[in-house]
Amino acid sequence: MIPNLNLVPFVSVDHMMKLVLHIGVERFLTELSAYVEEDFRRWESFDKTPRVASHSAEGVIELMPTSDGRTYGFKYVNGHPKNTREGRQTVTAFGVLADVGNGYPVLMTEMTILTALRTAATSAVAAKHLAPKDASCMAIIGNGAQAEFQAMAFKALLGIRKLRLYDIDPAATQKCVRNLRDQGFEIAACGSTEEAVEGAQIITTVTADKQYATILTDNMVGAGVHINAVGGDCPGKTELHRDILLRSDIFVEYPPQTRIEGEIQQLAPDHPVTELWTVMTGQAVGRRDARQITLFDSVGFATEDFSALRYVRDKVAGTGFYENLDMLADPDEPRDLFGMILRAAKPAPVGEAA
Ligand SMILES: NC(=O)c1ccc[n+]([C@@H]2O[C@H](COP(=O)([O-])OP(=O)(O)OC[C@H]3O[C@@H](n4cnc5c(N)ncnc54)[C@H](O)[C@@H]3O)[C@@H](O)[C@H]2O)c1
Repeated sequence: MIPNLNLVPFVSVDHMMKLVLHIGVERFLTELSAYVEEDFRRWESFDKTPRVASHSAEGVIELMPTSDGRTYGFKYVNGHPKNTREGRQTVTAFGVLADVGNGYPVLMTEMTILTALRTAATSAVAAKHLAPKDASCMAIIGNGAQAEFQAMAFKALLGIRKLRLYDIDPAATQKCVRNLRDQGFEIAACGSTEEAVEGAQIITTVTADKQYATILTDNMVGAGVHINAVGGDCPGKTELHRDILLRSDIFVEYPPQTRIEGEIQQLAPDHPVTELWTVMTGQAVGRRDARQITLFDSVGFATEDFSALRYVRDKVAGTGFYENLDMLADPDEPRDLFGMILRAAKPAPVGEAA
């Protein structure tokens, strides 16, 4: 059967959950990581722009577009740290993939779950290149919606088996322990950040607070550690003390965006950073030695969402994990858009006054 090009495959939250369970979380993260890395390796073929952010007192709404010349993608995403107190997600998202040749969308999908997966996959890809090779223990500070995804991605890609968890809200840590209990980890629920980072070769910070926070102070970070700083991703919203940045080799996604949104907003605009893609292509060195502190100043970049959209498009093809959305007008004669509306009017039944 010839597919109807005017129907757009749509992956709902329900279908995304089923797709993840069908593929398996670790396999999903591993395969998605390969797509993310593949797109980082062809970095120069993408249109790139810092995301378009609309800030308010309560949070931010952002649009994240990119294209590789053949396919176009964008994500709508918000960040509202106060939302969890009202029973809503801090971060929620949806996205679209389109054919550059005719401009028609080819996929629309929920991206709240997908963002958590792609953020974790990207963190793990970065850590694969930057973290100590023998890393087995990761601290996760901030045990909210993203936390388990980070843990699972680091298990799948780096073999992390020991987790040390801390959140200012013990209920968040308990939730995380509960969810990860049967996933093959040795888990320590900790009473402070200081306790959580003890003995961890990787420190993931993934807290949500709309302010300059100091989740990690300089004394908490020993030589040789890799820091995966995920939560600081907006102007005025950071997690690390500036002194840590000065001791670290800093790796970023797209500098023009990270200088506005990342931890490095605390530094001079010309402070040296290394673009992650150059490490992946071998043009720059990642981890040089065992005592170096590496920092992935993650803010989330549009190509990562593009990779995630590509992956989902490939995975749902030929499955039942989507429905078709009637979201493109399709008159028989393309210029007769108005006539299509007139023809949709139901003729009045015979004998009834018009
Ligand atoms: N870099 C990226 O690509 C990317 C992607 C998605 C989300 N994020 C960011 O990651 C952060 C976490 O997102 P989420 O969806 O998990 O949010 P969430 O609200 O579900 O969880 C955040 C957790 O952080 C905890 N927290 C806040 N302040 C803390 C502190 N001082 N110490 C320890 N814990 C603290 C909260 O109690 C909460 O449990 C957000 O800031 C979000 O904007 C970044």
